[in-house]
Amino acid sequence: MRLFISILIACMFSVGLQAKLYIYIEKGIKLPLKNQHITLYSGTPVDKISADGDMVRVKLNGFVGKNDKTKLFATKNLKLLLATAQKPGLIKIKGDRGALEARVAKKFLTDDMEEAWESGSDLFYDKCTKCHHAKIVEHHSMQDWNALFGSMKYKAKTTKKQNEEILRFLRAFAKDGILKESD
Ligand code: HEC
Repeated sequence: MRLFISILIACMFSVGLQAKLYIYIEKGIKLPLKNQHITLYSGTPVDKISADGDMVRVKLNGFVGKNDKTKLFATKNLKLLLATAQKPGLIKIKGDRGALEARVAKKFLTDDMEEAWESGSDLFYDKCTKCHHAKIVEHHSMQDWNALFGSMKYKAKTTKKQNEEILRFLRAFAKDGILKESD
């Protein structure tokens, strides 16, 4: 029994440590953390390290390009931006992988993935279902979505800002993206 309880506690502890949170911004896609010289992007999945009052220390993992060590992307193809650093050295780099730690106010974090992506998802379902049913996002790769969106954005008559947000949504939930709509 004692063993069972300690295993249970160990499990709860490890789950707690790896709690997946998402950057949540009600309006816009950028969260500048000025005194940390970091900008985080909406919807980005982060791991919680610790909490201190209203602030949460989080870790982001991703990929960096060969020539620009200040941008952290979700996948190797460097299409979905997760964060930018305004100072070199803030993103810890190992090969093509990068990791970044930041302190984020609780109100900019959610454990609800849908909530974190709601704004982009709403735009997609609003702007992209006027002429046909909603196309299934995970049927196309990030690369395909570049081209498909490139021709559809004129039909949808979206603004630049909306384009950026819809494209983030499409890339995140693409076949080779980082999230699944049903998760
Ligand atoms: C003004 C009408 C209109 C709007 C708005 C529109 N589409 Fe389309 N879309 C079409 C037509 C017409 C086709 C071709 C017929 C079809 O596949 O249904 C098409 C086809 C597609 C295809 C399939 C292409 C292929 O080769 O398989 C995708 C994916 C797509 N649209 C995505 C989008 C996205 C994303 C948006 C929002 C940014 C959007 N559409 C907005 C008219 C529109």
